[in-house]
Parts: sequence; structure tokens; C-alpha cells
Amino acid sequence: MTDSEPTGGADASYADAEARSARLEESLHREPGAHRVLTGDRPTGPLHLGHYFGTLQNRVRLQDLGVDLFVLVADYQTITDRDSPDSLPQDVDSLVADYLAIGIDPSRATIFAHSQVEALNQLFLPFLSLLSVAEIGRNPTVKDEMTASGQSAMSGLMFTYPVHQAADILFCKGTAVPVGKDQLPHLEVTRLVARRFNRKYSPDKPYFPEPDALLSDAPILLGTDGGKMSKSRNNSIPLGATADETAKLISRAKTDSDRTITYDPANRPEVSNLVLLAALCQGRKPEAVAAEIGDGGSGALKRLVTEAVNEYFRDIRTRRADLIADRTHLRDTLLAGNARARDIAHHTLTDVRRLMHTTY
Ligand code: TRP
Repeated sequence: MTDSEPTGGADASYADAEARSARLEESLHREPGAHRVLTGDRPTGPLHLGHYFGTLQNRVRLQDLGVDLFVLVADYQTITDRDSPDSLPQDVDSLVADYLAIGIDPSRATIFAHSQVEALNQLFLPFLSLLSVAEIGRNPTVKDEMTASGQSAMSGLMFTYPVHQAADILFCKGTAVPVGKDQLPHLEVTRLVARRFNRKYSPDKPYFPEPDALLSDAPILLGTDGGKMSKSRNNSIPLGATADETAKLISRAKTDSDRTITYDPANRPEVSNLVLLAALCQGRKPEAVAAEIGDGGSGALKRLVTEAVNEYFRDIRTRRADLIADRTHLRDTLLAGNARARDIAHHTLTDVRRLMHTTY
């Protein structure tokens, strides 16, 4: 990929990103202590099972490998795509509760909100100077998110938020960023910012690492209507749902009229998705789950899925309910993470100022 083309050549660059991701995975195993993983979520409501099997489980795996894990509550990003963030305090608490309940351990990992880390946000400014408006505007994910947000005009913040995301990652010199394919254009922006900063201000010794995406091969769970599982589509099963709520959501899930249950994602996406969910919860192959139900029909399938989900998530949900009841503990956890992030960001900003000759 050329230096001036952060998102161009989609196929070649995807193959490239995949190859780098595979090398990164090896390196994370070989020398976990040499890595800092940064990833995060927008606090827009409770996390769901799609998040869990898609990314949350992987974060705990990385933490347990011994890498330094940073989990970002991207609260500033919520103002790019919604009008009234007055539910933010509850949404942030709920996100932190989800993280702790699934096993992110604040004695080893850092959970922080980027709005609380002033020096991180200050990096946004020099970083903006390293890209042209045309380069920033070429990002297909921003265009998609703009369409999805339903807003009529693109704000300056939404237009530039991939550059803000570079600050999220580079403030702590993140080396590995677990993301889905849709986030690759953003990560290309971060890599470009790092490369240009190094070339311009620290040519003899690169200051920022060029982080790699850690692409996941986790299967994608669909929503209960067969569409993309999403908080806003009312088709998701929240991590913190009760057993009864789970039963109700699964009983409403779309299926088809063929009584014989098979695992055939291409032709029977809705049924296969339920089979997959049970398989993930039970640590089995989806084909084995489908064979067990055979011609028991969708009723038997739904009973099995409900039991499997409720069984797998029982302890996580109990922990989550206890955590939500103790807001002080949630806030203390976040404050401690913010403080650690602030120390690191301050250190980075001091270096950046020195390298940019803006220390007086
Ligand atoms: N953009 C991500 C999302 O929409 C959230 C996010 C913000 C993020 N900053 C990040 C993810 C840095 C990874 C790294 O979900």
C-alpha cells in the first residue's frame, strides 16, 4: 500500500492485513510482554452475545496470555452519531459491568474512558496535521457509519474520528488492535499517522509503533431475526438478560418450516444461527448439535439453545447483577483505569512535544 493511499487497493490490502494479523498472533504467544493490546466499544447500551463470542472472549484470552490489555470506553465517539447522550453515565457503568463480569481483570488490564484522558485528546491536534482532507475523506467505514446514523450532515468530528482513533491507539503505543474487517480503514489511518509522525519528527528512531489489526476468525452470530445482531435493531440477546428474557427472545427467533434441523448457514441462515449459538455455548461443533436435534423441529432447537445460553452465562450474569448494584465499585474501577491511562498519555504527550520542538 502506498503512503498516500490509506484505504486503497481493498483486496490486496486485506490479504496484507490478514498476513500481518497471523504474524501478530504468533508474536503475542511468543512474547506477550512485548505487546500492548488496545480495543474498545462505544457506550451505546448493554453488550450482547454477538459481542461476547465476536470479541469479548478474545480479550480475556489475550489478557490471560499476559499482554498488557487496554479497554477503551469510547464515550467521545458516541457524540459523533447520536444527538442526546444523557444516558451516557448509565451506559458507561453498564459497559464496565459487562467487562468485569466476563472476566476482564482490572488488576491486569486498564479500563478507561477516553474523554477523561486530556493528553490523549491533545494528540488529536498534531495528528490531524499529518493527513490531507482528501485522505481522511476516502474512508469507506466513515461513509457507512454516516449513513447508518441517519444524520443528514456529516460533522467535522465524525469526518475526522478515525484520526481521533489514532490517538486512542498511539497514546499508549498500542501494537495490536483486535477489530473486525469494517475497522481496517481506521487502522490504516493510525498506521499512516504513526509512519508520518516518525518520518517527520523522529526520523532516526521511530517513536510510535505501527500497530497491526488482530483479525478474528470467530464466527459471526446473527440477530434473532436473521439480520446483523445489533443493539439498535432489537434483535440481540444482551449479555445481562435474565434466563426468562433469554427464553422469550429465543422463542421469538425466526426459523423456517423444515422440521429437520441442519447446519447450513448459506441456505438456512436463521436456523443455522441458532445451532451455532448452542454450539458456541456448549463448546461443540454445530454439525453435532444439528444432528442431535435431527427432525425434532425448531421447538426442540429453541429449547436446547435457551438452555445452552442460560447455562453458559449463568455465572457471568450473577456477577453482572452484583456489579450493577455496586455503582461505587464500577466508578472506582474506571477512575483507576483513567488514572493509569492519564499517566501514560502525559508521558507520550511530553515526548511528542519534545520531538515537535514545542517545549518552552
Ligand atoms: N470505532 C470503534 C467502534 O465503533 C470503537 C473505537 C474507538 C475503537 N476507538 C477505538 C476500537 C480504538 C479500537 C481501537 O466500535
